[in-house]
Amino acid sequence: MLAPLFLLAVSSIVSAIPVKKAQPTDWMQANIGLLGSRPLINIAIPGSHDAGMSQINGGTAFSDAANTQTQTLSIGGQLSAGSRYFDLRPVIADGLYSTGHYSDVTEIDSWQGSNGESIASVISDINSFTSANNELIIINLSHAYDTDAGNSHYPIFTQAQWEALLEQLLGINHLYVDANPTTVDLTQVTLSTFIGSSPAVVVIVQPDDTIDLGTYASQGFYQYSQLNAYNEYSDTSTLSTMESDQLAKLAAQRATPIQSYFLLSWTLTQSTLEVLGLGDSILDLANQADPALYTSLSSALSTNTYPNILFIDNFQNDGQMVDLAMTINTNYAS
Ligand SMILES: *[C@@H]1O[C@H](CO)[C@@H](O)[C@H](O)[C@H]1NC(C)=O
Repeated sequence: MLAPLFLLAVSSIVSAIPVKKAQPTDWMQANIGLLGSRPLINIAIPGSHDAGMSQINGGTAFSDAANTQTQTLSIGGQLSAGSRYFDLRPVIADGLYSTGHYSDVTEIDSWQGSNGESIASVISDINSFTSANNELIIINLSHAYDTDAGNSHYPIFTQAQWEALLEQLLGINHLYVDANPTTVDLTQVTLSTFIGSSPAVVVIVQPDDTIDLGTYASQGFYQYSQLNAYNEYSDTSTLSTMESDQLAKLAAQRATPIQSYFLLSWTLTQSTLEVLGLGDSILDLANQADPALYTSLSSALSTNTYPNILFIDNFQNDGQMVDLAMTINTNYAS
């Protein structure tokens, strides 16, 4: 008669034991022997799409979690979970810098979206992570809009608004300053050069011609062209369409491991009806896409053809993305 109770007790103990991750939190440093001499173009890393949107901190009338939330872990949570590349979209909201997820809904001639984690919180998340982990973190800034301007038209940041943001981002510890900061091709820099003796944070800024980096160019901020990626999303909510599109792009762009620095954009994009609340949320779509990555990518890989950034929504703390990147780094890349 004790057996069922006993089994119940055992199974609840078993389910309470956290999954043992194959790779430690500082997975790059733990694998520096394998990866240290390789330039970024010969390394695969996990990355987070619209990485600031794990929180919804206000937004416009027609936005909600279903159509703006892309992540469930904060930047700090994603860092601990192994993500090393962050798509960050800065906005000005109520006079403060935040991350945001906004778009121009032409049907109603109005900008709609939400604010995510504040830039202040992003900076403190990064600093607490690098205080304990000698890892490389890449931040890509884009889609910078002033949402205080009235939602019939959100202007992109002015030079002064960019400078105020970069000034705040100087609060990031361990910004990586290359010996040749304005000319370096970061895809050719080895992992040991970045993190041989300390953590490193690289910030790349959009687009080369609308902002003059000025003195920030020698303080850890670089132009897109200095970490130039092939990065083309599929713009579909259908998993099979996205899979075949991304795998075809991978094959075309990475016939050799030096052809281009390749971001595999493994994300689904809501249809207009879904944006309006009829159907899957962004996180629902992510929960379809993410498991498929672990099954469909392997047949597309070879020693010539592998992605550099594995880019997803809803980055989870289950170790699977780091395992996949390290499988690529161990079995295909060299
Ligand atoms: C950075 O973001 C921009 C805008 O989305 C994109 O065009 C560019 O390819 C990105 N860079 C990398 C290294 O992914």
